[in-house]
Amino acid sequence: MKSRSIGNILRVAEIGLGCMGMSEFYGPTDDSQSLQTLERALELGVTHYDTSDMYGAGHNETLLGRFLAGKRDRVTIATKFGIVRKPGDYARRIDTSAAYVREACEASLRRLGVDVIDLYYAHRLNPETPVEETVGAMADLVKAGKVRALGLSEVSAATLRRAHAVHPIAAVQSEYSLWTRDMEEAVLPACRDLGISLVAYAPLGRGMLTGAVASREQFAENDFRRMSPRFAEGNLDRNLALVEAVKALAARKGCTPGQIALAWLLAQGPDILPIPGTKRIKYLEENVAAAEVALTDEELKALADALPPGAAAGDRYTAEGMRGVNV
Ligand SMILES: NC(=O)c1ccc[n+]([C@@H]2O[C@H](COP(=O)([O-])OP(=O)(O)OC[C@H]3O[C@@H](n4cnc5c(N)ncnc54)[C@H](OP(=O)(O)O)[C@@H]3O)[C@@H](O)[C@H]2O)c1
Repeated sequence: MKSRSIGNILRVAEIGLGCMGMSEFYGPTDDSQSLQTLERALELGVTHYDTSDMYGAGHNETLLGRFLAGKRDRVTIATKFGIVRKPGDYARRIDTSAAYVREACEASLRRLGVDVIDLYYAHRLNPETPVEETVGAMADLVKAGKVRALGLSEVSAATLRRAHAVHPIAAVQSEYSLWTRDMEEAVLPACRDLGISLVAYAPLGRGMLTGAVASREQFAENDFRRMSPRFAEGNLDRNLALVEAVKALAARKGCTPGQIALAWLLAQGPDILPIPGTKRIKYLEENVAAAEVALTDEELKALADALPPGAAAGDRYTAEGMRGVNV
């Protein structure tokens, strides 16, 4: 796979792996299956692995720690702090105080079993804590050699500029896909102005853009999508209709709809790094092969026309979740 830079500090294969679903959010999990998927990812050339301290209340980082043993130097690990939840409960508070940053980093290093985190993100920002305090504490972690590069997730363009003035930010992680394009308006231009890479999370629309979603009934009781407005009755049907354009193009090109979604993201610029999430080898192999799918200018335009910004029905989070984005 070709490589891309993250803020001119890290260099990773252009398609990464989102590990969140190996712990929770998308139905039952199986550690031995997940570990096999992680091993296969490395064989396929995937070097960028995305996790967070809150995925499975530390479970996801511990799982990655098991995988990392003996191969630390071949893997770029990105993790996050700031969302504080009780295990198994989606309710949360956000702590981005300097004291919490230090404490959370030590806990992540311990669970991952590493001396240094390659890319450390504030997962969400607490608007009551000045971003200067949070990024100041993160910068101290860089100085102490515990973190290599800094990131912010779901930050607004204005806060990003304030943060970048305290310490260079290497990456912004935001939801970005054919059905979530809001960051194209202000966040992506700010990233480009400042030389910051955009790590695109949920690049498959939480599975929607792969064509594998047919109804809410297929989701487990505690699946995150059962609470998401985009998958709610009424909205889901309208959103399924949007995916038809992706499916039709995939059929014409002899690839899968998910590969079209990833190829579209890769074509948005060399500064975009998709991190599709899966716990299964079969999906992983399909997603990595999207790096071989080339879309023509005409095809890119047809997709953009079929799924213009704002086309998806329903917010991408509940009202509480939406308060945490663009902060
Ligand atoms: N910063 C943030 O706030 C934030 C928020 C969400 C996610 N993330 C990160 O971004 C990563 C990716 O996002 P995501 O996992 O939420 O969403 P995603 O990558 O858009 O979609 C994941 C879903 O799609 C399914 N899937 C994956 N590949 C498939 C394929 N080829 N065919 C059919 N279905 C497929 C997965 O199934 P299986 O689970 O069954 O494999 C899972 O249900 C996460 O793992 C996490 O690391 C960050």
